[in-house]
Amino acid sequence: MDRIRIRGGKPLHGTIPIGGAKNAALPLMAAALLTEQTLQIANVPDLADITTMLDLLQSHGMGVETCEDNGSNGGRTVTLDGSRITRTTADYELVRKMRASVLVMGPLLSRFGEARVSLPGGCAIGTRPVNLHLDGLERLGAKIEIEDGYIHARAPKGLSGALVRFPSVSVGATENLMMAAALADGETVLENAALEPEVIDLARCLVTMGAEINGAGTTCIRIQGRQKLGGGEHSVIPDRIEAATYAMAGAITGGEVRLRGIDGSLMGEVLKAIEVAGAAVVVEPDELIVMRNGPLRAVEVTTAPFPGFPTDAQAQMMALVATADGTSMLTEAIFENRFMHVPELVRMGADISVRGNRATVQGVPVLRGAQVMATDLRASVSLVLAGLIADGETTVNRIYHLDRGYERLVEKLAACGVEIERIYA
Ligand code: EPU
Repeated sequence: MDRIRIRGGKPLHGTIPIGGAKNAALPLMAAALLTEQTLQIANVPDLADITTMLDLLQSHGMGVETCEDNGSNGGRTVTLDGSRITRTTADYELVRKMRASVLVMGPLLSRFGEARVSLPGGCAIGTRPVNLHLDGLERLGAKIEIEDGYIHARAPKGLSGALVRFPSVSVGATENLMMAAALADGETVLENAALEPEVIDLARCLVTMGAEINGAGTTCIRIQGRQKLGGGEHSVIPDRIEAATYAMAGAITGGEVRLRGIDGSLMGEVLKAIEVAGAAVVVEPDELIVMRNGPLRAVEVTTAPFPGFPTDAQAQMMALVATADGTSMLTEAIFENRFMHVPELVRMGADISVRGNRATVQGVPVLRGAQVMATDLRASVSLVLAGLIADGETTVNRIYHLDRGYERLVEKLAACGVEIERIYA
């Protein structure tokens, strides 16, 4: 298996292009199932999870073409042709690789009256049930049964608009319901909807395809169902978590890093937390500049839905404050098991204790390079950040997790002066 080797101690200096957002691109691609016309999506990052979604769509009969974008962000344009969908089953083999596969359920059900999707199991960050997706689809009139590990959703006469009040906020359930409601009969109102920029991006694309959607980006989204949707062209928003990760890479090493192609308004509270940790952040129209001259300082952070501090940046923040002056408190309020990076950071010399969903990080003067590995994407990248300042050499194993969500990570960091290489198995 490939590994990444880092020799710590170099400050980051340079410019990092930010790619399209993985978590926006995945639902956008699923939305192509809603139409028999062609949906063209630009600025799609080249990531393992995107490949998995393309494989899944192809397994349903979707026509797929990809070509390189002209821009410097390294993205691709994916052209999806849903005119010959032949299959409404999403197999276990693909769903088990990526939970976001469940996003095909809403579109398949509303356009074809049926979807069979393997029930996603638990994963490294928690049990992650899909009850909010299923309860919402039932409100729209779907009959749902669980058979042989598969969710079998049926609505032979089509879905009907309804009021869906989510008992708790879910990004994926909001997206699945918005797509299902776009082809339902009548109006659907989603209350307590997720506010994430990726939800707004999906709504914008659906509107381009002819849907009528109001309120995306607020807690109440109204969708007037249409009999058909058309195709269209859309470009994926930049990846705010990739940007947050490299902002923290700049902050942890000192130096100055420019993040090109990111809009500061997508970042929510994460920039404030990076500033509290001792870095200066300048927000330009299409760029963020992060620099640090003084010492790193402790923070108190609790993860929350957007615009709060994202759970997807919690592990990176922990690496950032591992060598800060004082004691930091990081509370994980979204997922029940998202501290898998802690034992590995401790092996690198960090002083971290966990009680329940709260981690206490006592800053230490130095981290030491080590052989490490992690079980999910963000945990893995937090070990890369720790490696950037560790004494000596850090080898991050099992980097297929990184390939799921960070495009050209080694190249982007190496271009800023980091001694980093990928070792091919
Ligand atoms: N939840 C339920 N029932 C459901 C759905 C969710 O109890 O039916 C719970 C989850 O277990 C979790 C909370 O609600 O405790 C929030 O989960 P949400 O549904 O919002 O997460 P998601 O849609 O499965 C997306 C991102 C995640 C990100 C979360 C939270 C995608 C493809 N994934 O997941 O991204 O952590 O929102 O912001 O958009 C990552 O990129 O590393 C990643 C894990």
